[in-house]
Amino acid sequence: MSIKRVGIIGSGIMGSGVAECAAVNGFEVVLRSRQRATADAMLAGLEKSLGRAVEKERMTAADRDATLSRVTVTSDLGDLADADLVLESIVEDLAAKKHLFTELDRICKDGAILATNTSTLPVIEMAMNTGRPELVCGIHFFNPAPVMSLVEIVRPLTASDETIREARAFAEACGKQAVEVKDQAGFIVNALLFPYLNNAVRLLESGVASRDDIDTAMKGGCNFPMGPLALLDLVGLDTSLAIIDALYEEFRDPNYAAVPLLRRMVAAEQLGRKTGKGFFDYHKK
Ligand SMILES: NC(=O)c1ccc[n+]([C@@H]2O[C@H](COP(=O)([O-])OP(=O)(O)OC[C@H]3O[C@@H](n4cnc5c(N)ncnc54)[C@H](O)[C@@H]3O)[C@@H](O)[C@H]2O)c1
Repeated sequence: MSIKRVGIIGSGIMGSGVAECAAVNGFEVVLRSRQRATADAMLAGLEKSLGRAVEKERMTAADRDATLSRVTVTSDLGDLADADLVLESIVEDLAAKKHLFTELDRICKDGAILATNTSTLPVIEMAMNTGRPELVCGIHFFNPAPVMSLVEIVRPLTASDETIREARAFAEACGKQAVEVKDQAGFIVNALLFPYLNNAVRLLESGVASRDDIDTAMKGGCNFPMGPLALLDLVGLDTSLAIIDALYEEFRDPNYAAVPLLRRMVAAEQLGRKTGKGFFDYHKK
């Protein structure tokens, strides 16, 4: 594999997690957030997470120090110029991502792979906003990235075999199991998962069962580690709504139409864990 230096863009849930996976597994990582203060907070978060790993004896102090020495943070996109791979994890919004890919194409060195962590959006539209569509693909990590074992490698029509091979090698070097999927909304996991999550909100909205009973039922009845409403809170309700809307946009299947309660909760900024309130309350008591 020729990837050594990785640029990660976005300081939200996924940017931080993916940066940790890459740094722990020996890649040089440049973390970019629009604001310097958030970039610094990401580094502090990484230090804390690795500190916990040392306490639990899952990592040595020497490995923690070596990992941190491979990470730099910046608010300047220009610092990604010499990255071999740039993986963006910014907001699930096609216009914002297309704009970013145009910028990255201008800034990044020839031959660098430009990848998106999008959950559902058409990767081809990002690829066609660059002058190097053969070097663009999806590398879709799951949440929380350091824990979840799967990565979907998303192949738009334009990607070269070499790009897909390199993306897969990167995911595997991060200790993940990679699967390959065509660039179709939802890929594998979210195409199957989100109709289920949306229907859980529908059950709640129509009063068929309570929040706690819906989650208890799916844990006890299907042996799922989390109930659907707690999982929506973990993913983020804004990101979840964007995913469901993208599925509807692609397939026009009524089963993919977002339940009004979900849309109302996003409007109320009840986004789940990240804002302290979603279907459950996360404010410290
Ligand atoms: N949350 C999940 O479970 C999950 C899982 C896999 C993939 N993803 C994908 O990862 C990406 C990020 O999701 P997240 O959960 O980390 O979201 P998040 O809300 O935690 O973070 C989004 C980040 O994007 C930044 N941002 C917002 N608007 C921007 C813009 N116009 N330009 C640049 N940056 C901007 C925000 O400041 C923030 O740092 C999305 O594409 C999402 O679909 C999310």
